[in-house]
Amino acid sequence: MEEIVALCKRRGFVYPTSAIYGGLANAYDYGPLGVELLRNIRRLWWQYFVSQRRDMVGIDSQIILHPKTWQASGHLNSFYDPLVEDKVTHKRYRADHLIEAWVEKTGSDIIVEDLDIEAMGKLIRERNIKSPDDNQLTLPRKFNSLVKTYLGVVEGGKKEVFLRGETAQGIFTNFKNVLSSTRLKIPFGIGQIGKSFRNEITQGQFIFRTFEFEQAEIEYFFDPEKNDWKKLYKHWQEMMVNFVNKVLGVDKKNLRWRRHTDRERSHYSKETYDLDYKFPFGWKELWGIAYRTDYDLKQHMKFSGKNLEYTDPKTGRRFIPHVIEPAVSTTRLFLMVLVDAFIREKNRIFLKLSPQLAPYQLAVFPLLANKSQLVNKANEVFLSLKNKFSVYWDDRGNIGKRYRYQDEVGTPFCLTIDHQSLKDDTVTIRDRDTMVQKRLKISQLNYYFSNIFL
Ligand code: GAP
Repeated sequence: MEEIVALCKRRGFVYPTSAIYGGLANAYDYGPLGVELLRNIRRLWWQYFVSQRRDMVGIDSQIILHPKTWQASGHLNSFYDPLVEDKVTHKRYRADHLIEAWVEKTGSDIIVEDLDIEAMGKLIRERNIKSPDDNQLTLPRKFNSLVKTYLGVVEGGKKEVFLRGETAQGIFTNFKNVLSSTRLKIPFGIGQIGKSFRNEITQGQFIFRTFEFEQAEIEYFFDPEKNDWKKLYKHWQEMMVNFVNKVLGVDKKNLRWRRHTDRERSHYSKETYDLDYKFPFGWKELWGIAYRTDYDLKQHMKFSGKNLEYTDPKTGRRFIPHVIEPAVSTTRLFLMVLVDAFIREKNRIFLKLSPQLAPYQLAVFPLLANKSQLVNKANEVFLSLKNKFSVYWDDRGNIGKRYRYQDEVGTPFCLTIDHQSLKDDTVTIRDRDTMVQKRLKISQLNYYFSNIFL
């Protein structure tokens, strides 16, 4: 993990935010390479889950929604983590995380997901579970993760609002709008990508759990009398695995399903599974899928007084649709993709990113920067490819260094224009993964790479 964090900083994928002011806990910025990778993940997710399906549409709702939204959704009462404090250092931790570490260390057969906040407190007391600094802990208390802020121009007249803790609620509050402004009929889904915010207690694990993150969520609405929820659930589980494995190119052996225990499941869900990925710090949730039933629409009906029922166009039957919700963050997908692609060989590090994900698909080099004929020829090649592919130009330093840089940022192919190029209009193409080089006519490059990338 340390190597990946170092590579992210060294090559401009991820920087700790506000570093010049000493940083900010659980917050990171995405650099020139990171922003490209994140955009690619976002684009592929949208293509796979929204554009390519006739039963899906997208929306983009506000980060700050009407505060009643969070009363209705239950987040104000039920969206909390169990907080404990080191009695000496006053550092704060999540009780379940400390108990998890204790279970691992002692080999205890306690299932952490089954413990409620009282049971956690009892266990901490009875087994004398301590902080990482070996000090006594306070009893756990509920710590709400919603981030509060204020809107309004007049001091004192400001209105308390919340930064959204999930993008899902903006989908539910727009359900009727989407229904009446499109020609969709049930079953159909709404997808959304956008920032969510959570007051996370724990620090560390890089961008895995951050204060601010970008979620990609789907609410798939269906008629529980006509559609078998278990079949739909399975379908979306398959979509999630296929996306990770086939679209993002991540190894299937690093994925597993884990069912939430009854106690662990969120207040709104009848069935939840996590698609876990094997991160360097253990198996952790990558992507959740929940059967939220009609909980949310019912709650919003109650709190808003508006009718959010669906009318079956054939029978006229009115009912509240149920939903299945696959929910992930693009930033957690980002970390998984980097971890999975990171390869250290004897003499080099490289990122084996799928060609659709790589920040740069091609890099073009004139062998020597001070030979104008080579630079001109390389420039021609660069210009002929740049409108179709994302191409990086590099004429600095020796060729070995240039290859090393491109390996570390995951560029699948490097094209070098050398003396032979001037004679026969060919270039060398170096493959990132095998390091094998071959020559190809410049006139064939466009077609050749179109077959690989598009
Ligand atoms: N709408 C349901 C929901 O938000 P969740 O399990 O709390 O459910 C869904 O979150 C996904 O969002 C997680 O599987 C994870 O990918 C991502 N996620 C949640 N909290 C996160 C955080 N603090 N940092 C990064 N990603 C996070």
